[in-house]
Amino acid sequence: MHLHHPLPRAPRINPSILAADFVNMQRDLAKIASADFAHVDVMDNHFVPNLTFGPQMVERIQATSPVPLDVHLMITDPDRWAPGYAELGAASVTFHLEAAADPVALARTLRGIGARAGVAIKPGTAGESLYDIIDEFDQILVMTVEPGFGGQRFMTETMPKLRGLADEAKRRGSDVWLQVDGGISDSTIEIAAAAGADTFVAGSAVYGADDVEAAVIRLRDLARAASLES
Ligand code: DX5
Ligand code: ZN
Repeated sequence: MHLHHPLPRAPRINPSILAADFVNMQRDLAKIASADFAHVDVMDNHFVPNLTFGPQMVERIQATSPVPLDVHLMITDPDRWAPGYAELGAASVTFHLEAAADPVALARTLRGIGARAGVAIKPGTAGESLYDIIDEFDQILVMTVEPGFGGQRFMTETMPKLRGLADEAKRRGSDVWLQVDGGISDSTIEIAAAAGADTFVAGSAVYGADDVEAAVIRLRDLARAASLES
C-alpha cells in the first residue's frame, strides 16, 4: 500500500544516507527529519564498483525514516529490480538510463505501482537523450559526479546539460523535478540551483556537519536564494 505524502515544495534537500553510519542507521535517519526525502543509494558492484544494500534493508530504512524515500538505483537490469522498490513503498524510484533496456516501459510500471518515476544520467550521457521522453518521468537526476562513491568533487562541466534539460522541460510545459547528486555543498549548491536544479542530494555535506539539521536548512536557504536570483 502506498501512503501518499503531500509533495514538498522546491528547493528540496535529500540527504544521502550513504554518508550515514550504517550500524547507527536508526539514529542517523532521525537526524534528517527536517529534510524532504531520504536519498537511498542502492549499488550492486556491477553498474558501479561499490556495493550497498538491497530491498530488505531498504524496507527497514523506510519503516524507520521520518521522511519518505528517494531510491537511487545504481544497478544493472533495473527493468527487473526497480519495481520491487516501488512495491515496498518508496516515494520515488530512480534508475539509470544507461542500464535500462526499456526506460519508458519501466517508468510506466513504476508509476502504475504508485511511485514517482525517476531517470538518472551519468556525467558522460547527453541530456538530449531524454528530451523526447521527459513526460514519462517525474524526476530527472543529473549526476554531478561519476556514480559509485560519496565525497567526490562536484563536476561543474555538467551544468550546461542541466540548463538544457531545464529549458527543454519548460518549453514542453513539464513539471518534472530536476535533481543533482554528487559534491553538493554550501559552496556548490548555488551553482546547481542557478542552472535549474530544484532537488539536491547531499551526503557528506549533511552527515559530515556537526549539526545535521542546521546543514539541511542552510543548504535549502542557499538554493532558494540562488534560484530566485537566476
Ligand atoms: C554517489 C551517490 C550519491 C552520494 C553523494 O554515487 O549517488 O548519492 O551519496 O555523496 P556526496 O554528497 O558526498 O557527494
Ligand atoms: Zn545517489
